Amino acid sequence: MHSTQANPYNYKVVRQFTIMTIIWGILGMSVGLLAASQLVWPALNFDLPWTSFGRIRPLHTSLVIFGFAGSAQFAASYYTLQRTCQVRLVSDRLAAFTFWGWQAVIVTMLITLPLGYTTTKEYAEIEFTGAIGMAIVWVAYGVLFFATLRKRATKHIYVGNWFFAAFIVTIAVLHIVNHLAVPISWFKSYPIYAGATDAMVQWWYGHNAVGFFLTTGFLGMMYYFVPKQANRPVYSYRLSIVHFWALIALYIWAGPHHLHYTALPDWAQSLGMVMSLILLAPSWGGMINGMMTLSGAWHKLRDDPILRFLVVALAFYGMSTFEGPMMAIKTVNALSHYTDWTIGHVHAGALGWVAMITFGSLYHMVPRLYGRETMHSVGLINAHFWLATIGTVLYIVSMWVNGISQGLMWRAVNVDGTLTYSFVEALEASHPGFIVRAIGGLCFLTGMLIMGYNTLRTVRAARTAAATSSPQLI
Ligand code: HEM
Ligand code: HEM
Repeated sequence: MHSTQANPYNYKVVRQFTIMTIIWGILGMSVGLLAASQLVWPALNFDLPWTSFGRIRPLHTSLVIFGFAGSAQFAASYYTLQRTCQVRLVSDRLAAFTFWGWQAVIVTMLITLPLGYTTTKEYAEIEFTGAIGMAIVWVAYGVLFFATLRKRATKHIYVGNWFFAAFIVTIAVLHIVNHLAVPISWFKSYPIYAGATDAMVQWWYGHNAVGFFLTTGFLGMMYYFVPKQANRPVYSYRLSIVHFWALIALYIWAGPHHLHYTALPDWAQSLGMVMSLILLAPSWGGMINGMMTLSGAWHKLRDDPILRFLVVALAFYGMSTFEGPMMAIKTVNALSHYTDWTIGHVHAGALGWVAMITFGSLYHMVPRLYGRETMHSVGLINAHFWLATIGTVLYIVSMWVNGISQGLMWRAVNVDGTLTYSFVEALEASHPGFIVRAIGGLCFLTGMLIMGYNTLRTVRAARTAAATSSPQLI
């Protein structure tokens, strides 16, 4: 273990992951905006295989999920762990390995996905060679996290760390089981599962990728950064424990709601539906716990845009975890499945919850990581907040309108039993919604660029201050 006089914690790795969160965020969302624009102007596919929608889409999801959301969780978990356990990460080398290893994995995705190497399993597209690398980095992350937790100077384990721990363990299990495959060359493999079993394993993975990669780690973030920024204790520590165990116990069963009306046995579909409905309870328990932490501090929302990011994230979390269980009801899913409604739901969670809680947490961390009082400009945080909020609303409202129109048009039949609308007519009706979504995406991306600029100026100011006086990076 190395420790420096100036700083007892390893902030270097946190800073590195923080910067990469912003860089992958800008890149991943630009690719998302390209995909959104391709649906408005198909000419943007450029008639090239590498830039076609089919390859751009998984590139977008991989960059935002693993690059942006992944780096954010590495940064926040290392920061929270060290501060709440009052101990430095046990190994600087292992920490550096997780940073460089994770970046190598994302770069592999960046190169191989446009080239067409893919397992074809959504959110698990990286071929087995990359997947093995990913598993090794993840295990190193787990070793570092748990070894540090064990060495903690505090008696109890802060609840945020419970969430990060569950996120790390579950993602390892999901990733390894879903990627079990028989390789036929260095770049191609086939899953060991077949037919409906393969689909079930994939969506057990897919749903829990949402539950653990896009929710549990971010709840860990919520439990640290909301109380810190509001300067209030967590509303109910007891509720946080109930929230944790209920969420962990329930999420794992809900995967079959992605396979309604398929070859999956009917009982499994119904079980998935029921478990999804029950999941509303722990989700809202957590959301209420976060919101109520602001009791007595609501006035701070007036002039603290960081707190506003965190609170609006919780509101979107509440909204998407209400919408999700509704979409899991088989009769509702009969309308929503395959439509843009799903895409709207995804981005209510991804933009409203995942990205917003990340922005709030990063704005809290960056000045502390670089020894500054505040970010370079609070006004720019405010501008980012409004662009992100307006962008999210434009995105999800346009997708609701599109999704419900598509679902209704596809199922409309004439008295003689023929379809009322052709597929192309439904597509034409979706065009205005695609334009509004692209505008929403542009707003969101502009906010992200502003964040990049604000962070750059903050880091530069820290460097200038360090060059003129002694560095103070605690
Ligand atoms: C500027 C912001 C963004 C834009 C413009 C954007 C755009 C898009 C588009 C056009 C699609 C394909 C939709 C389709 O196939 O019809 C998509 C899919 C997706 N995006 Fe984004 N996105 C953005 C940000 C994000 C972020 C931050 C995340 C996650 C943290 C995310 C996660 C996803 C996921 C998971 C899908 C696949 C959805 C599904 O298969 O149902 N996106 N996005
Ligand atoms: C209680 C919580 C939730 C439940 C029960 C739930 C349920 C659902 C349902 C029923 C679907 C549609 C499946 C289909 O028709 O194919 C879906 C799709 C999806 N949800 Fe949720 N959702 C929840 C929360 C969230 C959150 C918070 C996020 C994001 C952070 C999210 C991300 C996604 C994604 C990415 C998909 C698209 C999967 C795909 O087809 O590619 N969900 N969810």
